[in-house]
Order: sequence, then structure tokens, then C-alpha cells
Amino acid sequence: MPTRSLTDRLDGLAFGGDYNPEQWDEPVWKEDDTLMRRARVNLATMGVFSWALLEPDEGRYDFAWLDAHIDRLHANGVAVDLATPTASPPPWFTLAHPDALPVTPDSTRLTHGSRDTYCLAAPAYRSAARRIASALAERYGEHPAVALWHVHNEYGTLCYCDHTAAAFRAWLRARHGSLDALNEAWGTVFWSQRYTSWEQLLPPRVTQWHKNPGQALDFRRFWSDEIIAAYREQRDAIRAHSDRPVTTNLMLPAYQNVDLWALARELDVVTSDQYPSAPGPDAAADVAFHADRARSLGGGRPWLLMEQGTNTVYDRDRVLAKEPGDVLRHTLGHIARGSEGALFFQWRQSRAGAETWHSAMVPHAGPDSRIFREVAHVGEAVARLGELAGSTVTASVAVLHEADAWWALGVDGLPSADLDYHAALGRAHRALWDAGVTVDFAHPEHDLSRFALVIAPALFLLSDGAAENLRRYVAGGGTLLVQHASGYVDDRMHARLGGYPAAPLREALGVRVEEYRPLRRDERIALSDGSHGTVWSESLRAEGADTLAAYAEGMLAGAPALTRHRFGTGTGWYLSTRLDDAGYAALVARLLDETGVAPEAPGLPAQVEAVLRRAPDGRSWRVLINHRPEPVPLPEPARDVLTGITLAELPPGGCAVLRIT
Ligand code: GAL
Repeated sequence: MPTRSLTDRLDGLAFGGDYNPEQWDEPVWKEDDTLMRRARVNLATMGVFSWALLEPDEGRYDFAWLDAHIDRLHANGVAVDLATPTASPPPWFTLAHPDALPVTPDSTRLTHGSRDTYCLAAPAYRSAARRIASALAERYGEHPAVALWHVHNEYGTLCYCDHTAAAFRAWLRARHGSLDALNEAWGTVFWSQRYTSWEQLLPPRVTQWHKNPGQALDFRRFWSDEIIAAYREQRDAIRAHSDRPVTTNLMLPAYQNVDLWALARELDVVTSDQYPSAPGPDAAADVAFHADRARSLGGGRPWLLMEQGTNTVYDRDRVLAKEPGDVLRHTLGHIARGSEGALFFQWRQSRAGAETWHSAMVPHAGPDSRIFREVAHVGEAVARLGELAGSTVTASVAVLHEADAWWALGVDGLPSADLDYHAALGRAHRALWDAGVTVDFAHPEHDLSRFALVIAPALFLLSDGAAENLRRYVAGGGTLLVQHASGYVDDRMHARLGGYPAAPLREALGVRVEEYRPLRRDERIALSDGSHGTVWSESLRAEGADTLAAYAEGMLAGAPALTRHRFGTGTGWYLSTRLDDAGYAALVARLLDETGVAPEAPGLPAQVEAVLRRAPDGRSWRVLINHRPEPVPLPEPARDVLTGITLAELPPGGCAVLRIT
């Protein structure tokens, strides 16, 4: 286990990025040293894509070049986040082990020439990955420059090959114990799918029509376990030689081929990458969504932003630029929510190769550029925030997130294609962000008692344990909002009988869903309070709950749409449609009001982001980010740690970090 935290080793917050000096030569390395000092870089991620240089032939290592760069960085005051290069095996590997190339669901075997061309379940790949992780750890485990280990890169790629099939069968045997149990769990009695030997079982490859939902869900669970096992092997190989913290960078929020709660438990520090998918305030909200999830995955412990872009906003089929000031606002958005610094992909923009046009800290134009000047300015700001290291963030509102529930909405044959898990999660978070409230994410089986309000936006799958836990939370005084299409199936994807959601939750909510009625694409249904629903509606019976809004048209006219139920010492709310934006914002405002949850910084208008970080010794800081186009007066003048100046107002787009206690 690590003996010292990352920020102890760095003596402050982290600032830097992926550093790939192998793409450059001596004069550029010299300039890198100067520019890193200028930008206050103190951590560089090395080796993520260096397998071909580190192991030019199977079993023959060449560390000399890496020795020289690590020593150079060390002499320049830059610590190293040393990666294992296993996300990108070299061509010699795939030629020697063609069976380790990934296979798509339609049985196409991919070739090398990109990255991530490996099957995680292929024995040759796994042992090659262990070997190189071990060789790196043996050589650099005690190197004074190494402050963090970065296993792999964004685990997640899937494979459907025969190695995968064999591993899946072994996993299924362990999970189900017998074929009878598996057949029962997957409901194979339908469509003549009954399995009579383990050899008949396959990954969910391309089929004629709907795939079996139990098989699809189990495959997701299996693959997640496979990822975690692969990570643990490398981590343990590293720990045998090093006492530095070990991590792997998650890709949040939408990349969901792994149970993030389970993987995060294996990490010494949660690290994650974030690239917004829309500009402006949407990007800032996305930063917060990402950061709140990263923090929550680590149980509230400090975490680290491993990658962001200086100028990268992925907008479907194009990459948009960030506006001046966005890099500082995004960096502080992450730090406000518990990140111990901010790193980028990558230090210097590549002049060749697959990501030539991806932004970087030093762009093609060189240091005489807006981007590098902003980077240096942000580096200076982060350097001034060293006192925040180790402080944490707490929230009194939670949004529930769970891998099984996400995967359950990805199976074939659901009543509507518009039940979008990720969008529902983001929307709940966004409404709370807009209301100025800090949000945690929680697993539906966590102890939720510390939260005044819990929102369950998309728990289509709900295990018996989770349903009981939510019932207990409400009975014990909590306020819970459950949204449409929740608790419809158990953890085997079997429909709940007798009405949705799962029985213990029905008791807490005082409702029973008798019939689901998905809406047509673009259909809106009027509610009695003037709001509208889209996507989904339900024939809902109040069984003890009060109706707060009813459907106002169609077959459901007069039937409850939004209900509230006093249960035990708490309150269960149920919303049976997807409300329009204004209606949803009003509902969230009402819930916050009824639970007494105030915005983080009362006295500031909407769109001024405010988050409190607290140190164990009682010190605290409020990070403020003004997303408004006009200056905003502060409730009282306060000293800004970023500038040392006492501020009376925040300029448009401005940021401040105020020492509160
Ligand atoms: C990340 C990845 C980096 C780089 C970056 C580009 O997801 O880890 O290697 O590809 O995306 O945005």
C-alpha cells in the first residue's frame, strides 16, 4: 500500500499532462524543460503509448531512453506518473499472437494499426501485460521521480472472441453454479434457448433478432470483472516493487463497460479523464457532473483529473475550441469538487500520428500562443492552491447510480429506445447544479442516511437489496424521488410482478404502476400543473400517496403523474413521466425547499458556481466560478487565494478561491 499521498510527494496540487518526448528531439526537450518551469508543471504522465519502444521485441526491454527522460524531468522538479503501456500493444505482439486481437460481435477480427487492439481475455495478452508492468516496476519502483503509477489507459474495450467465450463460461459457472440455475435466470424456456452443456454458451454475438437479456447483462458483468482482474494483476505486479499509489484513469461520464464502483475500490486514488461534449455553460455543467462522480466513486476521498483538453470540446462530428478563460474555469470546477490538481492530454501537440489535431498545453504554434499563455496562467493558479491538498467536499443530496441499471437499459426489446440512462443521470445532476447545490452520487445499496434528498432517475433494474434499502431510507426520515420506469426488473432482468416498482419500494412510495405507456417520439402529454411529460407515461395508482399533479389528457386523464407519500418519518415521491425542463427544475426546487437544502453560497445568483472544500483541521475554502456575462458582487469582500487580493465582486467569467475559516 502507498506510504505517502500524491500531494505529499508533490508538495501541493498536481499540474501537468501526458508527456511523450519520444515524439521529439533534443532541442525540443530543452524547450520542454524551460516551458514546464514556466507553466509550473510538477507531474508528467509518461509511457502510456510507449510499449513498442520499451519492448522492441518480445522479452527484450530498452529502458535507456526512458531513464534519460525521467532523470531529466526529476532534475527539473517534475515528478512522473508512470504508465504501463498495455493499451497499445506493438505490431510484433499481434503478429506473434493473432489470437489476442479483438473480435467484434459480428465475428470480425480487428487488426493492428490503431490502439487498443487486444482482447483482455486472451492469455497471451494478459501475461505480456503482467510482464511489462512488472519489468517497469522493478526498474522504476523506487525511483525518486515516480509519484504515481498509471496502469493501462481507460479500460473498457470489448471483445467477443473464443478466449472471451471460454472465460465467460468459467464466469457463468462460478456465478450460477448449475445450468439449471442459469437457464432459470436467463429465462431460456422462451424461444427454445435452453442450454444443456456449458460449451453451448456464447458471448452475445450478432443474432437474428433480440438477444437474451439475461445473457446480455451477465456478459457486461463478466467483462467488468475481467477488466478489474486485469487491473489487479498489473497493480499487484507494481506493488511488489513500489510503495507509490497505483491507479488507472477512468473515462467518465459516458463510458460504461465497467462497474465503476467496483473498479474504484481497487484504486489507491481515483483518476479520471474529462472532455465536454458541448461548449459554454453546458461544458461547465459537464465538468461538475464528471467531478462529482469521480469524487463519489472514491467515497469522497480526494481524486485527480488525469486528462482534460486545452481546446477540446467533442461535439458529435467536430471538435470545438474552448473559449478564453475556459481552461481556468474547468480546472477550478474540478478542483472545487475534490480534484487534487489538473492534468491534460497532452503536453505538446503531436506533429504526426493519429492525434495530430488534438489540443495540447503547447500547441503547434508554440509557446507564443493564447493557449500556452492560458496554460501558464492556470499552472500559476494551481500552484497557489497547494493549501487545499487533502481537503474534501460533502453533499447533502445524492443521485443514484449503478452499473446493472445502466446495462439493463441497453438490452434488446425494451418498450422505448428513449430510456437513456446516462442522459437521465446527467439531467438530475444538471437540475441540482443549476440550483447551486453540490451533489454526490451513491449506489442504491449504500447507506443513504446522511443525505437529506436522494434522486433515483433511472433504476429500471433494481435488486431486492436495493429496493429494501430505499424503503429503509424513506422510513428512516429520508426524502426520495423515484422517476419513471424504475424498479421494473430484478437483478436477473425478470419483470417485477403485481405492479412496478419492486414491492418494498411501492410501500415507501405509496403507488403502484399498473401499465407502462411509452410516448411517441416528440409526443408531449399535458399535466394538470401546466407542465408536460415526454418519452414515457404510466397508469399509476395512488395507494396511500397524495397526487400532486395528474395527467390532463388522453386515456390517463385524471390519473396521478406526480405523487408524494409520507412513510415512516420520511417522504417518497414518484414521477411517472419525463417532465419538461421547466417542470423538472420546479420539482427539484420544491424538493430542495421541502428538505431544507440551501444553495452552497446563499446570496449569489444562479450560474455562480460555489463549492466548499474542508480540511480535517477545520480550514475551509469556497471556490467560486462566475458563469454569468456580468460582474457579480460578493455578499462580503474576501481575500482570494488565487491572487492574494481582497475581492468585492467576481468579474464576468471570473473565478476566486476564498478562505472561509
Ligand atoms: C483520452 C485518451 C487519450 C487521448 C484523449 C483524446 O480518452 O486517454 O489518450 O486519446 O482521449 O481526447
